[in-house]
Amino acid sequence: MRVLITGVRGLLGTELFRQLQGRVETIGWGRSRRPEGWNPSVVYESVDITEGEPARSALERWRPQVVVHTAAMTDVDACETDPSLAWKVNADGTRRLAEICNSVDAFLISVSTDYVFGESIGRPYREEDSPDPVNKYGQSKLEAERCALEAARRVLVLRVSGLFGPARSNFVLGAMRRLREGQTVPVVTDQVNSPSYTVDLAEGICRLMDRFAADPLSAEPGGVLHGILHLANSGEANRLEVAEVIAEAVGAPKGLLQRTTWKQLGRPAQRPEYTALDCSRFERLTGSRLRTWQEAVRGFIQRESTP
Ligand SMILES: NC(=O)c1ccc[n+]([C@@H]2O[C@H](COP(=O)([O-])OP(=O)(O)OC[C@H]3O[C@@H](n4cnc5c(N)ncnc54)[C@H](OP(=O)(O)O)[C@@H]3O)[C@@H](O)[C@H]2O)c1
Repeated sequence: MRVLITGVRGLLGTELFRQLQGRVETIGWGRSRRPEGWNPSVVYESVDITEGEPARSALERWRPQVVVHTAAMTDVDACETDPSLAWKVNADGTRRLAEICNSVDAFLISVSTDYVFGESIGRPYREEDSPDPVNKYGQSKLEAERCALEAARRVLVLRVSGLFGPARSNFVLGAMRRLREGQTVPVVTDQVNSPSYTVDLAEGICRLMDRFAADPLSAEPGGVLHGILHLANSGEANRLEVAEVIAEAVGAPKGLLQRTTWKQLGRPAQRPEYTALDCSRFERLTGSRLRTWQEAVRGFIQRESTP
C-alpha cells in the first residue's frame, strides 16, 4: 500500500510518518524544502496545498491508495486575525485535495478538530452532534470537513483533540520543560478537551489503515470507514489537571502552576469551553481504545526523559 501524508513536518504528521515507514510505502508532503537529514530513498515533495496544479501533478505522479491530510493552518489566533488565509489553507486546500483524491481513486483521511464544537452539552461530543465553532479556526476546519465529505468519494473525517508530542511546540512539552527548570506555568482552567498523544493517535490511524487494507470497500459511502470518526486518548481535562500530572511526573516543587483563564489572557480568538470527544465509534470499529490521557502524558514524559 502506498500512503501519502500532507503536513509531514507537523506535530501529528511527523509521528505518523515515523510509524508508517517500513510498514507501507510512504510519501511525505511538506510546505518547505526537503528537510535536512531526510532519508533520500523516501519520496518528499514540497507542495503548498493552496496551489492547485502542483498538488494535482504531485498526487497524479505518485497515485497513493491513501492520503492522510494533516496539513492545516493550526495557529488559532493567527486564523482569527487572518481568516481569509485560514479559509484558503484549511477549507479551500482540503476541497482541492479531496477533488484530486477522487481523480486518482485515493481514500482520503482528512484530519479535523474538536474545535468544531464549542459549549458544554453535558457529555463528550459524538460524531453526529451538531458542530458550533466559536472561532475562525474552528469555522474554517468545519468548512474543511464539509468540503472533504462533499468532494471526496471515499473519505473519513478524523476529529482529534488537544495534541501533544515531541515534534513541535505544544502545551505539554512546554510545561514539562518549564517545570523541570523550576519555572512557573500559566494554566487556563476554562477549557476542557481530550488531551491526546501523537504517538497514540498515529497508532490509532495505523489501525484504521490496517482495516482499510483488509477491506477497501469499507471506505465506500455507507461503509464503516466512511464519514466522521472521533479519535482521542480516553477522558477529559483542563490544562490545570494536565499540568498537575506533569508536575508530579517530573517531581516539580509545589506552587509553580498559576491559574488563569483565556479571558484573562486576552487572546484574539475565543476558545471553546468544552470539546471532549466520545470515541465509542472508533472503539467499536477497531475493538480497541486509546489509553487514558493521564497514562499518555506520563508515557510521553518518560520517553522524553530516556536518553
Ligand atoms: N494541534 C492540536 O492541538 C490539534 C487539535 C485538534 C486537531 N488538530 C488538527 O490536527 C491536524 C494536525 O495538526 P498539527 O498540530 O500536527 O499541526 P502543525 O504541527 O501545525 O502542522 C501542520 C503542518 O501543515 C503544514 N502547512 C501549513 N500550511 C500549509 C500549506 N499552505 N501547504 C502545505 N502545508 C502546510 C505546516 O507546514 P510547515 O512545517 O511549513 O509549517 C505543518 O507542517 C490539523 O488538521 C489540525 O487542525 C490539531
